[in-house]
Amino acid sequence: LRDLIVKLGGSVITNKAVKESPRIDVIRSLVGILKDRFRVLIHGGGSFGHYVAYEVGLNRRPVSFEDALKVMKSMDRLSNIVLRSLEEFNAKILLIRPREFVINKELRLYKVFEDALVEYKKRGANILTHGDVVVDIGKYNFSVCSGDVLALIFARIFRPKAVIFLSDVDGIYTKDPKRDPSAKLIEDISGSELVGAFEGSSSTDVTGGMKLKVETIKRISEITDVYVLNGFKLDNLKRFLSGDDFVGTRIRRG
Ligand SMILES: Nc1ncnc2c1ncn2[C@@H]1O[C@H](COP(=O)(O)OP(=O)(O)OP(=O)(O)O)[C@@H](O)[C@H]1O
Ligand SMILES: [Mg+2]
Repeated sequence: LRDLIVKLGGSVITNKAVKESPRIDVIRSLVGILKDRFRVLIHGGGSFGHYVAYEVGLNRRPVSFEDALKVMKSMDRLSNIVLRSLEEFNAKILLIRPREFVINKELRLYKVFEDALVEYKKRGANILTHGDVVVDIGKYNFSVCSGDVLALIFARIFRPKAVIFLSDVDGIYTKDPKRDPSAKLIEDISGSELVGAFEGSSSTDVTGGMKLKVETIKRISEITDVYVLNGFKLDNLKRFLSGDDFVGTRIRRG
């Protein structure tokens, strides 16, 4: 599989329990495996963006430019680590930050200035981007544009063969696998069935975060196949990329 959109979850590339702690070795290994496989690489916030966002109250109350900038700078530190790794492998890739082309309204995506992205695509560019703080024209001043939503934005523009999400668990489960041992891995499902399979679980542990992620994945599956895999299981990832049997969730288009 090539020309993919890959989202590196912040749960994989950072230790979410400790502020601004990157997993450098994991980043390097993943970049080494993925470097010739993607057109667009997206990374999440993990213990960089999410942590500082929480500190300043982003997405909970209006924030000042100064506080928004703190979150942006934190994301810059993480994206620079990812970019450095890509450059070690001599990957040809352009870093583009969502704060420069996305506007939200009341915490939701409102406008994407995509013309330049379309032109980059035509010219064969590979793009690195990341979950970010963007201007919000509602009452919050600034809010989050998540890496998951960016996967949807770029899927619309790049029309890849597949979008891959890497997280710290094996895929999408019927319930949160870290809290509920009865959670079952969903192995193969159509996009239209996904939200039902997920909500149908009796669990109340499901976070708004996961619900939003699943809804975003459902929308991407209207465009292309989506796979959710464990970013720590490198052999499994390699098997997937070469078309062999793998463990994970496949969300079939449609
Ligand atoms: N039904 C579910 N299936 C799979 N994971 C779930 C489910 N419910 C909750 N989770 C939790 O979601 C987490 C992954 O989402 P999370 O937003 O924390 O990571 P991420 O998207 O990789 O990070 P980031 O948002 O920083 O990119 C897993 O660690 C898992 O514990
Ligand atoms: Mg997330």
